[in-house]
Amino acid sequence: MEKINFNGRVAIVTGAGQGIGRMYALELGRRGAKVVVNDLGVSRDGSGADSSAADKVVEEIVKAGGQAVANYDSVATMAGGKNIVGTAVDTYGKVDILINNAGIVRDKSFMKMTEEEWDLVINVHLKGAFCVTQPAVRAMKENGYGRIIFTASTSGLYGNFGQTNYGAAKLGLVGIMNTLKLEVSKYDIKINTIAPTAWSRMTTDIFPPEFEDKMNPQFNEPMALYLCSQENRATGQIYAMGAGWYGRTTIVSGDGLCLGNAKRAISVEEIRDNFEKISDVENKREHESALGIFEYMGPLLS
Ligand code: NAI
Repeated sequence: MEKINFNGRVAIVTGAGQGIGRMYALELGRRGAKVVVNDLGVSRDGSGADSSAADKVVEEIVKAGGQAVANYDSVATMAGGKNIVGTAVDTYGKVDILINNAGIVRDKSFMKMTEEEWDLVINVHLKGAFCVTQPAVRAMKENGYGRIIFTASTSGLYGNFGQTNYGAAKLGLVGIMNTLKLEVSKYDIKINTIAPTAWSRMTTDIFPPEFEDKMNPQFNEPMALYLCSQENRATGQIYAMGAGWYGRTTIVSGDGLCLGNAKRAISVEEIRDNFEKISDVENKREHESALGIFEYMGPLLS
């Protein structure tokens, strides 16, 4: 089997100064990509800034014989996003791959959460994805090619105590993907979302110490890189992973049932009396877009 390589490809990895992002950047570099290593060099909660985080990873890539350039902008502003993409275009002439990975946490139970904690986390993860992805897609459209990854979290997909801000931002990325995949599909731009799990400074106080090796951030890298490869055909999908496990997560609808004929009002009691059937998802389906939901609306179709 031929090895997957990224020769001639230009990749941006945000938040690549450490943790999971560093793994992506190093392996992309090893496999021939020219890499923009973006990192603001902040602490886990988003405070401070230190350019050495990105510099060190660039050094590692170059030492291993690869090509890389550092960028220290924040993903959380439009100016930052433009500079990050500009670094790729100015240095290497284009952008083929974008891995939106930068992230922070400000955990607090919902009732104690401040506006600042809410805004900071939403800005980095959700707005940050917009700020970097929009200029990147502009550049990708010009070449008729692109591979984009959004980094969600099982905290957003399923919930995790103390992470309403983080979870909202993370599931919001799925919302961006669901629509953006439709808007750019004709340019061979594939967009997927991953929900990684790894031992990093983000999780050291959550996971038990024996997870350090088993939850090595490396395990997330092959999936992200496969999705960024030319041969990947998947788009608009969510993949969760960790400790060497990989699986697709998806949003489905149950068959539900049609009440009435769309010519009479439906009562609250009819919902109550049919709630079990309405809630049943045993027979489930995925949908390519919001239009899929019309398939269930019998009276509309008859
Ligand atoms: P990490 O804290 O080790 O690395 C995140 C990097 O992002 C840091 O180097 C930081 O300086 C950088 N960063 C933060 N804000 C930035 C900004 N505004 N602009 C540019 N860079 C910025 O975290 P880790 O664990 O490697 O996480 C990577 C991604 O994976 C994050 O999006 C995180 O939310 C997500 N994730 C991680 C999980 C885990 O188990 N570690 C679980 C689910 C999701």
